[in-house]
Amino acid sequence: MAKLEIKIYPDPVLRKKAANVEKAGSGERKLAYDMIETMRSANGVGLAAPQVGISKRIIVVEDAEGDEKISLTLINPKITQKKGRVKFCEGCLSLPGISNDVIRPEFITVEALNLDGEPIKINADGLLARIIQHETDHLDGIMFIDKLSFLKRKKIMKQLSAKVCVEF
Ligand code: NI
Repeated sequence: MAKLEIKIYPDPVLRKKAANVEKAGSGERKLAYDMIETMRSANGVGLAAPQVGISKRIIVVEDAEGDEKISLTLINPKITQKKGRVKFCEGCLSLPGISNDVIRPEFITVEALNLDGEPIKINADGLLARIIQHETDHLDGIMFIDKLSFLKRKKIMKQLSAKVCVEF
């Protein structure tokens, strides 16, 4: 496994619509393993392939709520059901130092393929539902700051540009 470079906003790859994976092969398997290593070493709980510069519909998610940490890889994930509304504070590895409350559906059903190309269907709530929604958005070039009010976003943009000024 290898650690990959995480692309930081406003890298244009983060705004691209990622391509469907026709067939998951050894390349996708290696990418998923590398993404899991990258996510863990950055202390993240989810990562989407565009965040490592690969515009493909692959996400990895760490289910941290159980007794054991389980890493899931979802290929071509599609959220097929949403229910409820809940507020939760989100951050993003591509937006270091930024976090904000985001309102999203509380319960979801996601359909995807696993690394063996088999269809899987997961009903999720809590943190897992939150991560899957955040990462699936990345595949459509959507960042969590897009979900905020204009004023909040403006404030964050200011913070982001200030950050660039101090990091030489
Ligand atoms: Ni993110």
